[in-house]
Amino acid sequence: MTTTYLITGANRGIGLEMARQILKSGDRLHAVCRNPDSATELNALIDASQGRGQIYKADACDELALANIANTIVGGIDVVVCNAGVMSARGGIEDSENTADAVSTVLMTNIAGPFFTARAFLKQLKLSKTPKICIISSFMGSQHHQGASAYFYRASKAGANNIMVTLANELKASGVTVASFHPGWVKTDMGGSNADITPVESATGLLQRFLLLTMAKSGSFINFDGKELPL
Ligand SMILES: NC(=O)c1ccc[n+]([C@@H]2O[C@H](COP(=O)([O-])OP(=O)(O)OC[C@H]3O[C@@H](n4cnc5c(N)ncnc54)[C@H](OP(=O)(O)O)[C@@H]3O)[C@@H](O)[C@H]2O)c1
Repeated sequence: MTTTYLITGANRGIGLEMARQILKSGDRLHAVCRNPDSATELNALIDASQGRGQIYKADACDELALANIANTIVGGIDVVVCNAGVMSARGGIEDSENTADAVSTVLMTNIAGPFFTARAFLKQLKLSKTPKICIISSFMGSQHHQGASAYFYRASKAGANNIMVTLANELKASGVTVASFHPGWVKTDMGGSNADITPVESATGLLQRFLLLTMAKSGSFINFDGKELPL
């Protein structure tokens, strides 16, 4: 039986690697990104997928664009992966990159983005026998991660985890399982070259976690290797 996924931010980094592994395993993919025209690697994957993949254009903060995509999708989606995310100022209280615009972008993308994505595709999720919403968060957002920098990135991922718990509570009655995930410290544009693991290792672990996720674990925050994390 094939699984149908939808991934935001599917054009590079962890999202692109998840897309690659999903299509390689014979599953189906709705791949969302901001600029399909320049998403060369993603387009090559979709072109080689024999009709199992489709690419769509939307910013994760654009609720209308997401809703318009949802209106074109016939059939169910089993797993919605809210992966699109941005880092913001990485410094401390004096970091001049913490401007109102930058703060707004990181909070909108990392908190409202998963909410708008989950809401847009709820109709398709409800057609699945095992619907799941998987939010790619970060352990930097945990209250147990004693950071002293990157204020708004941390706050945004704490917010994403909070949204995750509320979605899990509200959607339980509809049978939709919701969880958030730490992908590890990953060698991507965001994680940098000194990070611990490759996108392949992260995506492999995350996709296993999505598959094994059940309603009993709805509302959980889970590491890419399966360990449960404190919110
Ligand atoms: N790498 C790590 O070590 C690490 C650790 C913890 C958590 N994470 C989380 O993992 C997720 C993926 O990160 P990554 O490392 O793969 O980052 P990345 O290489 O920087 O890729 C980020 C992806 O998100 C997309 N994106 C950003 N803002 C968007 C928006 N407003 N609308 C739609 N797409 C948007 C980007 O699209 P464009 O190409 O259009 O910019 C890109 O596809 C993020 O949520 C991140 O916070 C990463």
